[in-house]
Amino acid sequence: MIIYYSGCGNSEFIAKSIADALNEQLVFIPEAQRENRFEYSLSEGEKVGFVYPIYSWRPPRLVENFVKNLRLNGEASYVWTAVTCGDNVGETENIFRKELKDIGLNLDAAFCFVMPNTYVNFMGMSVDREEVANEKIAKAKEKLPKVIEMIAAKKSFSDMIKGGLPRFKSNFIGKAFYRLLVSDKPFLSTDECVSCGTCVKVCPLQNITLEDGRPRWHGNCTTCNACYHHCPKHAIQYGKKTQGKGQYFLK
Ligand SMILES: Cc1cc2nc3c(=O)[nH]c(=O)nc-3n(C[C@H](O)[C@H](O)[C@H](O)COP(=O)(O)O)c2cc1C
Repeated sequence: MIIYYSGCGNSEFIAKSIADALNEQLVFIPEAQRENRFEYSLSEGEKVGFVYPIYSWRPPRLVENFVKNLRLNGEASYVWTAVTCGDNVGETENIFRKELKDIGLNLDAAFCFVMPNTYVNFMGMSVDREEVANEKIAKAKEKLPKVIEMIAAKKSFSDMIKGGLPRFKSNFIGKAFYRLLVSDKPFLSTDECVSCGTCVKVCPLQNITLEDGRPRWHGNCTTCNACYHHCPKHAIQYGKKTQGKGQYFLK
């Protein structure tokens, strides 16, 4: 079983590639949460994987909340996580290991895929140049078969890239991030909007509706930026923070 979350497609690509190769069932966290599906039965020898993007050097809060409520009947034979990040992950492995321990799971392996950056909501932060993004994707694709092999063989492993000041970033900035920066209030649509409804369709939290042909955000946002990145007219902005910045999502 692979439990996953993705905003802009990077983590979804990793989760689906591994699921296809190993014939694993996929559980998409936002959907499971909407349907109150927190309890799952494991078959004999079943492995459990968690795939998600790094948000502010931690697992996204919606992943943490899902794990807190998760009930698995039966014993996992191997527990792994694969995260995607733009650069590095801080203390994510230790944080997530503890969160899994709290629900009786022992993390056996942690894999890290550096993929194109999707965070554009802060001064100075933007998408990668196209050649950098393409190189990251190529490297991730090259790495996938090795990771799949290790998961199939139930190998203990870790290749998390912590980056500098990991504790400070994950614990201090990581927590302040939700208090100070995670909000859909700054999102707006410009006159370029053609009312196509793409933003409504791609929002993993179903947080957007069209009103008078324009997107309206309803407060249940994790700033994954799927709406911003997928807009075919680049008509969604995060206040002034995204002015002049590019878009990216993995098709
Ligand atoms: C809200 C938010 C916070 C992010 N924080 C980090 C971070 O702390 N470190 C990092 O390397 N990348 C960070 N990123 C980049 C994403 O982790 C990366 O682009 C990821 O592959 C996106 O996955 P997705 O396409 O499955 O949503 C952040 C992206 C978003 C949207």
